[in-house]
Amino acid sequence: MTVSVKVPKDALMAEARLATLRPRMLEAEAAYYQDDDPILTDAEYDALRAEVVAIEAAFPALVTEDSPTQTVGAAPAWGFAKVTHARPMLSLSNAFEDQDVIDFFDRVRRFLSLSGSDPVELTCEPKIDGLSATITFEKGVFKLGATRGDGAVGENITANLATLADVPKTLSGVGIPEVLEVRGEVYMAKADFDAMNAALEAEGKKVFANPRNAAAGSLRQLDPAITAARPLKFFAYSLGQVEGGDVGESHWALLQRLADWGFVTNPLNRLCASPDEVLAYYHDIEARRAALPYDIDGVVYKVNRFDYQSRMGQVSRSPRWATAHKFPAERAITRLNDISLQVGRTGALTPVANLEPVTVGGVVVSRATLHNEDELRRKDIRAGDTVVIQRAGDVIPQVVEVLLDKRPADSATFEFPDACPVCGSPAVRPEGEAVRRCTGDLVCAAQVVERLRHFISRDALDIDGFGAKNVEQFHGFGWIKAPADIFRLVTREDEIAGLEGWGETSAAKLSAAINARRVIPLDRLLFGLGIRQVGQNTARLLARRYETAEALFAQFDRVAARDLVAETDLLDIDGIGPSVVADIGRFFANEDNRAAVDDLLAQVEVEAVRAPTLDADARLAGKTVVFTGTLTQMSRAEAKARAEALGAKVSGSVSKKTDLVVIGLDAGSKAKKAADLELETMDEDQWIAFLG
Ligand code: IVH
Repeated sequence: MTVSVKVPKDALMAEARLATLRPRMLEAEAAYYQDDDPILTDAEYDALRAEVVAIEAAFPALVTEDSPTQTVGAAPAWGFAKVTHARPMLSLSNAFEDQDVIDFFDRVRRFLSLSGSDPVELTCEPKIDGLSATITFEKGVFKLGATRGDGAVGENITANLATLADVPKTLSGVGIPEVLEVRGEVYMAKADFDAMNAALEAEGKKVFANPRNAAAGSLRQLDPAITAARPLKFFAYSLGQVEGGDVGESHWALLQRLADWGFVTNPLNRLCASPDEVLAYYHDIEARRAALPYDIDGVVYKVNRFDYQSRMGQVSRSPRWATAHKFPAERAITRLNDISLQVGRTGALTPVANLEPVTVGGVVVSRATLHNEDELRRKDIRAGDTVVIQRAGDVIPQVVEVLLDKRPADSATFEFPDACPVCGSPAVRPEGEAVRRCTGDLVCAAQVVERLRHFISRDALDIDGFGAKNVEQFHGFGWIKAPADIFRLVTREDEIAGLEGWGETSAAKLSAAINARRVIPLDRLLFGLGIRQVGQNTARLLARRYETAEALFAQFDRVAARDLVAETDLLDIDGIGPSVVADIGRFFANEDNRAAVDDLLAQVEVEAVRAPTLDADARLAGKTVVFTGTLTQMSRAEAKARAEALGAKVSGSVSKKTDLVVIGLDAGSKAKKAADLELETMDEDQWIAFLG
């Protein structure tokens, strides 16, 4: 588009004109980028921008840093600032059957070495299907709000959380800690969700799939004004960091205090003292589930006494003292129209059931995964079958059963092809593997597209406004084949602007979003490469170990060259096993892959990732501890957990590498070996004293 622009004659007039135009541009950009609600048409905005650009070109001295021409659509690099949680935000282990709950009670008793007559109380709470948030108060005043993120680091959403009526801004009452971090669930009530979606639909906007997505989408808005307009609520249910004050000695007492201080706690919470009581609570809530004003997906049980909680500690990322008792998956019956094959980013052929659309637990389902060849054969699922499908939480719906008496007489079994349905390359299934894979690699359009989709996905590059459809379209034009090509799209801004459904503004917005990702943390970049078995966690472990892109990829090259020292170095990382190392080696031994990584590195600046600094309390950090003999004051499981909580690795055998051996009663050969090797030892009393 060419726009003729009148440029003022002198600098003074130019300045005056800019003073009117720039605020109008900023206003239009805010409406477009943040509110999703443009106040100008693309053409009007383009004309406005062209005029500012022309004036600035004629009077370069008037270009200011904050001119909208210098900052098109620039959102902060990764959206929100990061917040490192003072105490990690954990997740919960799951229980499904009544028996799992009885087992949970038993585990608690055993871990704490309680006798049959010692009561164990559990607080029971509905498990709200929203998203967790954490809010820090200093001297009773709201200071900071954050999302859970990966549990260790979340996003700073202070301004957004401040808009929730359920979140007090100042606390009142007695015993309020100097520093108080309160955690809970942000959610949207079902009726509010329906009303909001109806309003969005009336405005021709995209609706949300369910109340949880709506709550998440509303909370993670760069403009808090949008959050303020959304009907979000908050239930408080646990603590993070606490300094001073009086939070009580049990979870139940805490819930009471939180309510006194001004938080909303769930009125359906109960304190129960036996498995029978707990299960009665669960079944009661389950029966009332549909009538509740918000979505829940189970019930959460927490050991009530805080001293018990701290003794029990955590295993991996969930506390031992709590568990989530999930409701059973929701099921429905429908017709399976046909079976198709999806080719994934690693070439895996996944059979997919195309279903007659059916509502399961409030969501319309039209596809379900059939997992793999064996599963399909084992269940003998055929096109035309009537099937029972189930959906649990966010998991992809599954076919659980075929109703054989409804099977049409002429149905045929599904035959897996031995060629890729997309590129025709051989599809092979190695011995002992469940998955058949297309061997086309970068020749296979499906694999290439899937890899690119993965590269831009939320947990990898997360490019705003760039979705799967765009990847397919641009790949179809031959514009993008490898990750680096995505960064070269900015040179095609004019071409993109000319495509159907695009304009100059949206093309500029895409360029800005791509450019905003030129600085990228190492773990995201690595995850984005889509190496088999290198998921988010593995990528983070590797990035933390090698810190910089140079060090990491140099190491991978050595692994690809079968350098034993390098392989061992990788295997030394807790959580990295031989098959992961093999997959990394295979990926980097492939010249196309290696070249694609170099090409990508030329386009981006990689941020080093540092390992989190160890807790000041981690007095056994990096030490290997062995327990031997019988401990009389705590169970072996508790001793192990306490040592791990202080940073230790607990091992079963004594060697030169052992740093400490804790010797209980009747210890045998391990105690002797410790003495022979002159290792540091403690008896049980010393161990208890050490724990403090
Ligand atoms: S307690 C260590 N209580 O469930 C304590 N969580 O899988 C961890 N949730 O991330 C959380 N209602 O988003 C707790 N009453 C409740 C909850 C609840 C919902 C969610 C929360 C958490 C997830 C854990």
